[in-house]
Amino acid sequence: MIEQFKKDIAQGLSSNPKTLPSKYFYDEMGDELFVQIMHCPEYYLTKAELDIFTNQTENIVNALELSPHTYFELIELGAGDGLKTKELLKLLDKQDFKFDYLPIDISQNALNQLEESINKEFPTISVKTQQGDYFQVLETLHDSNHPKIVLFLGSNLGNMQDEIASDFINKLGSCLSNGDKLFLGVDLIKSASIVLPAYNDSKGITRDFNLNLLSIINRELEADFDLNSFSHQPQYTEKEGIAKSFLVSNRKQIVKIKTINQTFSFEKGEKIATEVSRKYNDTILNQIIENTPFQIGIKLTDARLFFANYVLKIN
Ligand code: AVI
Repeated sequence: MIEQFKKDIAQGLSSNPKTLPSKYFYDEMGDELFVQIMHCPEYYLTKAELDIFTNQTENIVNALELSPHTYFELIELGAGDGLKTKELLKLLDKQDFKFDYLPIDISQNALNQLEESINKEFPTISVKTQQGDYFQVLETLHDSNHPKIVLFLGSNLGNMQDEIASDFINKLGSCLSNGDKLFLGVDLIKSASIVLPAYNDSKGITRDFNLNLLSIINRELEADFDLNSFSHQPQYTEKEGIAKSFLVSNRKQIVKIKTINQTFSFEKGEKIATEVSRKYNDTILNQIIENTPFQIGIKLTDARLFFANYVLKIN
């Protein structure tokens, strides 16, 4: 793990332009800051998807073509606090659907908390948490021949470059069978006046979230990034449809990373690309799933048309 981290950081900071992978944002502090981001008034994504789960729960069940008599597995990739999913669980429980809920997450801690809260709120629902890498776990699920619904919510797909997203969905498809479905939550392309503030909130939480990546490198790799010498810079155009986050060096400086025995120099104004958050429409999603076994089925949107949950089917 740490060796891969060292390699990725060294490679990213040696490339031109410099990059750092956003998957390393999520240490304990990063998790905490992301929860705070989700509560920011500017960060509409979580609220918009919760709107769909709260106000269109019946439509979700219909779109997934679920039957109360056929047992299925409800698998969730990166479940987090499960706030949105609980809306669906509530209805499935009330209407006596037969299923197991199988949340998969890399964090055992997140899974423990989720399992505890579901056992408390829905004592009759069977929860089987699975800790690990999505694909390791999905491959083990392949052994069962029960119908499967996979939830991948929160526009988490958007943090992957399009090519990687395609590979990811294709790999996911290879773990599923005909009739199984992916319920995918994605942020929709819209004007910069709405998207940019979501990645540049007025309290500066997103800034701290971005800068926290440098703290993680300082701590894990004994680096000497001065956090006051870098600024958070978000970028987005509706034409491109991708929110991008950068860290910009405020001055000419040299940073030493002790454990890899390397120094990196920064010009004043030089940027490190840290994150992409892709926004979607039908055309883009179709391009991404083009060479995968999936096809777009029903699409549900929130009242403001900010966010969509697509049913992707394997026929
Ligand atoms: C986790 N992910 C979908 C978030 C997003 O919107 O891309 C991460 C995030 N980055 C900055 N703010 C939120």
